[in-house]
Amino acid sequence: MQFRLKVTIAAAVAACAGAALAQEQTVTIGSVAPMSGPQAHYGKDNANGVKMAIEDLNKQNISIGGKKITWAVDVEDDAADPKQGAAVAQKLCDAKVNGVVGHLNSGTTIPASKIYHECGIPMVTGAATNPDLTKPGYKEVFRIIANDSSLGAGLAFYAADALKLKKVAIIDDRTAYGQGVADIFEKTAKSKGMQVVERQFTTDKATDFMAILTAIKAKQPDAVFFGGMDPQAGPMLRQMEQLGMTNVKFFGGDGICTVKLAELSAGAKTLGNVVCAEGGTSIQKMPGGNAWKARYDKEYPNQFQVYSPYTYDATMLLADAMKRANSTDPKVYLPKLIESKYKGVTAVIEFEPNGELKNPAITLSVFKDGKKTPLN
Ligand code: ALA
Repeated sequence: MQFRLKVTIAAAVAACAGAALAQEQTVTIGSVAPMSGPQAHYGKDNANGVKMAIEDLNKQNISIGGKKITWAVDVEDDAADPKQGAAVAQKLCDAKVNGVVGHLNSGTTIPASKIYHECGIPMVTGAATNPDLTKPGYKEVFRIIANDSSLGAGLAFYAADALKLKKVAIIDDRTAYGQGVADIFEKTAKSKGMQVVERQFTTDKATDFMAILTAIKAKQPDAVFFGGMDPQAGPMLRQMEQLGMTNVKFFGGDGICTVKLAELSAGAKTLGNVVCAEGGTSIQKMPGGNAWKARYDKEYPNQFQVYSPYTYDATMLLADAMKRANSTDPKVYLPKLIESKYKGVTAVIEFEPNGELKNPAITLSVFKDGKKTPLN
């Protein structure tokens, strides 16, 4: 009898422990960007934004569906490579993460988006800007910055209307982003009566642009537009200086609008000719921008580039949809994402039916005394 009682008590204790365990759950957010190679500084900045959000969520003691949530991040490296991007997306699908923040490059994000769609995991990018991302209409795909239709056109308007430039040469890196934003710039520039005197291309691995810049110099453009990222834009600016192209303006989208560009151009005076566009308001004008940036700089000194406020918001946005759905199950909380009205650091985030941000802003910046400085 006594033995039987002991067994019953032991069973009850075990049942209670099991119930307590069942009340806890880990929610994992995948963060994908290039973490290695020449674009690793962008990836680090993106991952830092996600990590900061995860820290904040863990401080909030959030329960969803009656379970206390521990928030975790799975940082993955797609190396800015479309094939690796697709492989990482499949890995995160197989791992059944609860949501994804990423990817960073349009060239990786577009193929990855199909994979997230197929496995039903929501993804929010705070960096990939090619408009084609939302064209298939996958309900899992969201973007919380302006796309290249705004960036490319905004730069062309500025070149034609504010600077009254007449002749422009265009270079792109043949990635989905670089080629896409350059095409939009070209179309808009032509519609504004500008002459496109030369179109050249390179790759996102190249660092020697002397041949294409020499061909461009012969056409005497007022400006060069570069569709690509800062590991190319930096050396390009240096080589433009070497070739004496010191009065030629240099335009580009968010890919070159980084703090790092100043370092990569290594003191070239041509950095002062740069006008770049990014898809949101400047950090100084974001609702919680200054305080957020001060905290970021304290935690991650000298790592800020462009997108971390957006990856922070993207993570918070996923958590907000889970809370409103009272579920961390992607299939259950996904319909809540499109209904978001989330007051983030970057903006109040609401979506168009196709997953694009409603009313996106853009900011043009120049580099004054080597420091990125917003014009608006
Ligand atoms: N906006 C850049 C891209 O779409 C980073 O690739």
